[in-house]
Amino acid sequence: MTTDRPADAPPSEDRSSFDWEARFQADDAPWERQGVHPALIDWIDSGVLKLGQTVLTPGCGRSEEPVFLAQQGLSVIATDIAPSAIAWQKARFESAGVSAQAIETDALAWRPDTPVDVLYEQTFLCAIHPRKRDAYEAMAHACLKPGGLLLALFMQKSEQGGPPYGCGLDAMRALFAEDRWRWPEAEARPYPHGGLNGKAELGMVLTRI
Ligand SMILES: C[S@@+](CC[C@H](N)C(=O)[O-])C[C@H]1O[C@@H](n2cnc3c(N)ncnc32)[C@H](O)[C@@H]1O
Repeated sequence: MTTDRPADAPPSEDRSSFDWEARFQADDAPWERQGVHPALIDWIDSGVLKLGQTVLTPGCGRSEEPVFLAQQGLSVIATDIAPSAIAWQKARFESAGVSAQAIETDALAWRPDTPVDVLYEQTFLCAIHPRKRDAYEAMAHACLKPGGLLLALFMQKSEQGGPPYGCGLDAMRALFAEDRWRWPEAEARPYPHGGLNGKAELGMVLTRI
């Protein structure tokens, strides 16, 4: 991800060809949190995530959450376009002694054989160019079964450009429209991201209609 640009910069930056594999090979990944995301712990503690559910983590990178979810007894499918990320996840599953899938693919185009219970979104939506967001929404809707949950962490930032691209709530409400998604009544909880200048990620649970 990049240094932030000022809000008055022209919004023409297009880094949709961003080389994620090169970033992993250079070990230049400031988006990586140390440890498991606190929102995920909250969603487990509050019973949103349950034993036996199948959870998809698109754009998983080298995050700890897929192995953590597998250790909690969930069935995990992690996808990423970067070979290094998938190799890392496979090695992590093996060293932890858990059974989980890691698939190298374009997560926007990939679909499971059977729709899943949960999609865990962590710094993937903010990583793709905004013009690909409709494809993200279509992917999430197609991959989740009716009543399935999108556990979202919407990246908040005022600067233009990216990645990370801001995922303001007005834009998210337009993207995840109310005829396809049920929005929570509770206020979104902010989780600051230490590696990304403390930017808040808003944790929200949307239900696929
Ligand atoms: C900002 S990183 C986040 C990684 C991980 N979710 C985390 O929180 O550490 C974005 C990830 O999305 C992956 N990615 C980008 N475009 C993708 C695509 N079309 N399909 C699958 N993965 C993609 C990148 O390889 C990278 O691992």
